[in-house]
Amino acid sequence: MYPERPAGIAFGGDYYPEQWPREVLEEDAALMREAGVNLVSLGMFSWALMEPAEGRYAFGWLDEIVDRLHANGVAVALATPTAAPPAWFVRAHPDVLPVTRDRQRIGFGGRQSACSSAPAFREATARLVRALGEHYRGHPAVVMWHVHNEYGAPLGECYCEHSVAAWREWLRTTYREVPALNEAWGATFWGQTYTDWAEIDAPRFNHTAVNPAQRLDYARFSDGEHRAHYALQRDILRDLAPGIPVTTNFAGTVNCKSTDLWRWARELDVIANDHYLKAERPDNHIDLAMSADLARSVAGGAPWMLMEHSAGAVNWQPRNLAKRPGEMRRNSLAHVARGSDSVLFFQFRASRFGAEKFHSGMVPHAGTGSEQWREVVRLGADLRELAAVRGSRVRAEVALVWDWESYWALELDWRPSVDLEFRERMDAFYEALWREHVTVDFVHPSADISGYAVVVAPSSYLLTEAAAKNLHRYVESGGTLLVSYFSGIVDEHDTIHPGAHPGALRELLGLSIEEFHPLREHETVELDGGAPARVWSERIRPAGAVAVRRFATGPDAGHPAFTRHELGAGTAWYLATAPSGSLRELLGQVLDHARVSRPRGLPDTLERVRRGDHVFLINHGDDPVTVEGVTGTSVFDGVRHDGPVTVAPGTVMVVATTP
Ligand code: GAL
Repeated sequence: MYPERPAGIAFGGDYYPEQWPREVLEEDAALMREAGVNLVSLGMFSWALMEPAEGRYAFGWLDEIVDRLHANGVAVALATPTAAPPAWFVRAHPDVLPVTRDRQRIGFGGRQSACSSAPAFREATARLVRALGEHYRGHPAVVMWHVHNEYGAPLGECYCEHSVAAWREWLRTTYREVPALNEAWGATFWGQTYTDWAEIDAPRFNHTAVNPAQRLDYARFSDGEHRAHYALQRDILRDLAPGIPVTTNFAGTVNCKSTDLWRWARELDVIANDHYLKAERPDNHIDLAMSADLARSVAGGAPWMLMEHSAGAVNWQPRNLAKRPGEMRRNSLAHVARGSDSVLFFQFRASRFGAEKFHSGMVPHAGTGSEQWREVVRLGADLRELAAVRGSRVRAEVALVWDWESYWALELDWRPSVDLEFRERMDAFYEALWREHVTVDFVHPSADISGYAVVVAPSSYLLTEAAAKNLHRYVESGGTLLVSYFSGIVDEHDTIHPGAHPGALRELLGLSIEEFHPLREHETVELDGGAPARVWSERIRPAGAVAVRRFATGPDAGHPAFTRHELGAGTAWYLATAPSGSLRELLGQVLDHARVSRPRGLPDTLERVRRGDHVFLINHGDDPVTVEGVTGTSVFDGVRHDGPVTVAPGTVMVVATTP
């Protein structure tokens, strides 16, 4: 359920009027009109102002602002301020302060300073949200509720006494009997057998590795506690204001490791995502595209909201680079191309004080005489031209398997190599596909994947039997699957599937692994034909699979490195190493096999995405790019094209393909 208003693409950002005097707020209203801002998120960190003392609610200051915005045609995503509990509350309930894994209780002075499991926090949350909802339900400016802020970041897991109590309840509900828990956790190892629920602690810091099954369950439990805190608020708001969508903004789909967004998605009316560039990474627009594609996938293909990104520099990276001219526009339109129906920023006006005073805003410290403000105003105009894009969908032929549980499990202690990283493999495959101009969806391994021409599993270390069967069925009925190394190794309790690796995928891939041979830090091996590879080598015993490429050097010289197994009507491919420069070529073979077409001769500085009837052409490079076979009308200048078009360096062209 996407908010009905504003019409077209929503444009605006987080707005913190509480930081500014009245004259500035009046100027803000005029500037919002100038830029065409039509949606702001309000109230996010203002609990201390909304409830200055326990049970005394004060919304007068906010009424004035909401009314002024409404009078200026700006809709409001009204936030609940629970990510910033006030000092008086923390003083009265010091037990809400979260405890870290190494038993440090954090202090007041930052944000996210309350544990989602703490009863006092839940009670105060419910009271405040009810008061807020009762006060603002029916207000014509309020088009959606924006709960909390970025659950899971930075507070993923809490180790306080309330968390431990809730954890024991969670374990009871999950396992019912202590022996079942012992079995699931492999508790005979290192003599960890429990006899009573009360013996079980959180998996705190330890001088050695802690039971991995216990840690994995704690990650599931902790994420669930945040979801329960969200659902508590959502249910109150839904009850008070039926029909008004409720959401919470994710801390960056690709970056927020602690939140299992497949589970979160079921709880939200509309998916809202935040994304910040890694400023120093040269191709950071690829990370942006990945974040946007994952947001769309989590939304089940429906349009989603870009809830935060930055107009210029952020303030929390080691070196906070300003965006180059045109970069903000490219970023914003790339999110829209990949399914977002909003372009929102953190924040409308750059703050003068506090921890984020060096963070950019739509209105920078340099004011409206700046290039940045001019770009913001231009972007607002562009987005008005793109109103027809709203609601349209992106179709992908290729899917990447992404499972947060596998992410958690893979990166626990004591794996065969520290170079086994979930994001590293995911990024490598995503980047190769991006450079091939292939739009991808992300899928959970148990999801319905039957519609995809190719499914790629770059890092599926944890794979349940049910998920493995799902992949098996997909291939048998004609699908093309590509699996990368160290996949299908353990089940949901981090227990190795019986027999030789990869237990869950042996039959599907038509092979087994006799021995892992992780490589040294900078060691490379070669594949036949001379292509170098890093990180991983292993001894494969084919059992139906044929070698497409072999290792030419290293511990597995002469043995298969890239294999192919015909199964039923489909094919399962397996890649046993991390090719340095040739991943695109190997992947290309798989795409060709499945007849996934790609534009030939288009440089990989040009991002090309189709959304509904619109084709987005984004030139990230320093040279003009000619794109062949474009038929339609260029949205920003009304020029009709039928044949090759040239996209100038750093610019974006959007072509409407229907008359
Ligand atoms: C986000 C957060 C915002 C702001 C922003 C700065 O993670 O939700 O409140 O802090 O980062 O980049």
